[in-house]
Amino acid sequence: MILAIESSCDETAAAVVKNGREVLSNVISSQIALHTLYGGVVPEIASRKHIEKINQVIETALLEAGVPLERMDAIAVTYGPGLVGALLVGVSEAKAISFATGIPLVGVHHIEGHICANYIENKDLEPPFICLVVSGGHSHLVAVKDYGVYEIIGRTRDDAAGEAFDKVARAIGLGYPGGPKIDKLSREGNPEAISFPRAKVQESEYDFSFSGLKSAVLNYLNGCKMKGETVCAADVAASFQKAVIDVLVEHSLHAVKEFGYEKFAIAGGVASNSSLREALAGRCAREGVRFYYPSPVFCTDNAAMIGTAGYYEFIKGVKSGYDLNAVPNLKLGER
Ligand code: KG4
Ligand code: ZN
Repeated sequence: MILAIESSCDETAAAVVKNGREVLSNVISSQIALHTLYGGVVPEIASRKHIEKINQVIETALLEAGVPLERMDAIAVTYGPGLVGALLVGVSEAKAISFATGIPLVGVHHIEGHICANYIENKDLEPPFICLVVSGGHSHLVAVKDYGVYEIIGRTRDDAAGEAFDKVARAIGLGYPGGPKIDKLSREGNPEAISFPRAKVQESEYDFSFSGLKSAVLNYLNGCKMKGETVCAADVAASFQKAVIDVLVEHSLHAVKEFGYEKFAIAGGVASNSSLREALAGRCAREGVRFYYPSPVFCTDNAAMIGTAGYYEFIKGVKSGYDLNAVPNLKLGER
């Protein structure tokens, strides 16, 4: 029985997870409305809000699960990567509860949590598989060789996929967070209307680069403005989204084939994108690859995924000391 805590960015979250895959409660207090006023996450505000909410969120998670704190076998907490001030709130809280109760503490890598979100609803999913992790801060192609054993085979050289969604959304006046808004608007647009670049990274066939695409969108918008042409925001959104998806699909399926794996999963906020899910489902079906994906609520930041990741670390014998610290640039697979 794991009590999990997540506070790496703009969601204060707590969950109770039983035997790794059974979510008894999953409470998320989102700060999105607050940060929307500033067009993005303001770290100082995020930390302050986490402090205000965290006790309440944990209490609610325990109440909803119907299991008292004393019954927990471990307390799992995200300790990186993320915003340092935001991470510190969750880490300090988890350490305090662990110290007061004697319940063991397990520090969890946020990206490992995103990957493990796939285990929650797909009871049959076991490693090995390839996972595409696409969130606001990360774009990684990961070979999941075993529980807790990861090899990063591709990563972004510049912007993360979600970051590109957020920046393009801002440029076409949609506001923050951009991903869900572009997803929705794209359904009214023509993905072939504008030809945006599909970037390839010279030295690595699995790495990503999205900053060129972002610049191409900004140049297109500027060009229209200078020529006095009206911009069809839905066409821009759909064409941009298609350019991102094409690259994500190509790289992912290439990795699955090269590694000889039969299973492929997606994770992170961008993994809730409806067109990405459709494109990957179609391609995997054609190529005989089993495709796994979490429900949208387990794609964006939540604590249930941290509970699942924490469970697999805990049963391997991993425990953290009271010197556990927030590590803003923590690498996957490092402790
Ligand atoms: O995983 P997440 O909640 O936080 C990080 O760990 O970064 O991901 C947030 C990111 C944001 O950039 C948001 O715009 C993007 O995920 N996102 C989406 C969608 N929903 C959220 N991007 C594209 N389509 C969506 N439906
Ligand atoms: Zn995340």
